[in-house]
Amino acid sequence: MPKTNANAKIPGSVTSPVCQSEDTYLDATLRPKEFKEYIGQDKIKESLSITIKAAKNRGDSLDHLLFYGPAGLGKTTLAHIVTREMQTNIKATSGPALERTGDLASLLTNLEDGDILFIDEIHRLNRTVEEALYPAMEDFHLDIVIGKGPGAQVLQLNLPRFTLVGATTRVGLLTNPLRSRFGGLYRLHLYSEDEIKQIVFRSAKILGIPIKTDGAEFIAQCSRCNPRVANRLLKRVRDFAQVKGNGIITREIAKKALKMLEIDSLGLEGIDREILRVTIEKFNGGPVGVQTLAAALGEEEDTLIDVYEPYLMVLGFFTRTPRGRVVTPKGYEHLGMKCVDSLF
Ligand code: ADE
Repeated sequence: MPKTNANAKIPGSVTSPVCQSEDTYLDATLRPKEFKEYIGQDKIKESLSITIKAAKNRGDSLDHLLFYGPAGLGKTTLAHIVTREMQTNIKATSGPALERTGDLASLLTNLEDGDILFIDEIHRLNRTVEEALYPAMEDFHLDIVIGKGPGAQVLQLNLPRFTLVGATTRVGLLTNPLRSRFGGLYRLHLYSEDEIKQIVFRSAKILGIPIKTDGAEFIAQCSRCNPRVANRLLKRVRDFAQVKGNGIITREIAKKALKMLEIDSLGLEGIDREILRVTIEKFNGGPVGVQTLAAALGEEEDTLIDVYEPYLMVLGFFTRTPRGRVVTPKGYEHLGMKCVDSLF
């Protein structure tokens, strides 16, 4: 096929896949803007700071980076901090939003050298777009096939030296060729209770919410080691404190608010307990396939895997086995149920 070299910019449009995730709007005020404001993930911050400093010293763009780990731990926030530290610009999109190679081309050709392209949920890229990304990541060019059959032409676009920052909750679903093209892979861990407490204090200060130490500790204890959950709970407890108390968040007020929200002292919500109960009552405690379990719960399989299971596993209430999901004796105990026929 004949190749044409074209470096004209493809304009973005109203329907272009550049998206602002829910986070971008909701957490904008609470989101740390630089590493020194970002609490936790110390090893990642240290490693990224060194990488950024070195790239800046060399006057180079940053290697492609992949952030992975459960939802709500700060992957998007890190992408924005990296952008700011590199003093560059970011365009954000997501795997499912990039439907065609043309969508990718439109984004990439509108970047400048050193800019960051952030792709959230990168494990959900379709195969064609993913394959178009390989030469873009490696050699900064994009091959676009125009037309079909013998008359088809390949248009080769030279691209700026951009940095791809990918984020995923499911690193295992990334293909080897894609994963191996990232120069830095960073796994985000669940936060300690003390880190979450610091985050709650920081957010309360930004939002002007009066909070006592025991109130912040209680919210931290119920936040599933997750800053997004902590910030959400803080706002709900604030509402409760305003209406049912004197506006100050204490342990007592937080406890009452969370009770009303049916969140228990470990941070489990109704749906978490439902997952355990359905696995026990409908599937004899497991093993049950994740698809079957999701269908029985009326939940999306991805939501079950990304949002609910990680914390149930952290608590040791639930495990993934090769034959399916299983509730552990500890999980039975939490529901006040007796485990008679256990795999453990
Ligand atoms: N808000 C959400 N995540 C945060 C973090 N890691 N540090 C500070 N504030 C946050």
